[in-house]
Amino acid sequence: MDSITIREAVLTDAQGISDVLQDIAAAGKRNKRCDVDFAREHYVADPDRIRCSVAVQGDQALGFQSLKRAIENNPYGAPVGWGVIGTHIRPSAARRGVGRALFRATLLAAQESGLSAIDATISPTNTEGLAYCSAMGFVDYRQHDGARCKSYSLT
Ligand SMILES: CC(C)(COP(=O)(O)OP(=O)(O)OC[C@H]1O[C@@H](n2cnc3c(N)ncnc32)[C@H](O)[C@@H]1OP(=O)(O)O)[C@@H](O)C(=O)NCCC(=O)NCCS
Repeated sequence: MDSITIREAVLTDAQGISDVLQDIAAAGKRNKRCDVDFAREHYVADPDRIRCSVAVQGDQALGFQSLKRAIENNPYGAPVGWGVIGTHIRPSAARRGVGRALFRATLLAAQESGLSAIDATISPTNTEGLAYCSAMGFVDYRQHDGARCKSYSLT
């Protein structure tokens, strides 16, 4: 079986990222947009992007992690200048260490960018997302629109 590679996303990864989101939606774990344009605009080519990493095995994207800079009036209410993280792994590839490997790449990018902290905004019912972020070292720091917000300090 091919090994798993973690690398920076390029424009042609928008389709694979969309496929990952669609798999998550099909498993009942997502109700937001999953289309290719969304994947391109919201992740790969987002102007606030610091790093978007994809985990690839053969020609299939298994998952991705997005790190963006929190700007004024960001939808997560994260402090301006922090990073904001989003993680999405195909259910069929879950619990194989893909999320952990992606976070190593994200952490390096966050350190290189001089971020002081990273926000992860998660639904309180998303037990796997909450467990994953806690396992990566995030801690609760506030609530926003009913979501639980966890932070990872880089200082
Ligand atoms: C949550 C998610 C990102 C985890 O990704 P993953 O690749 O399965 O995570 P890993 O295999 O790297 O797991 C790392 C650690 O996170 C924790 N974890 C991950 N999934 C978990 C689960 N379902 N239940 C409990 N703990 C879990 C564990 O501590 C795990 O370490 P271990 O396997 O050595 O015990 C993935 O399930 C996912 O994309 N879910 C749908 C979208 C989502 O909820 N995103 C999260 C928003 S922050």
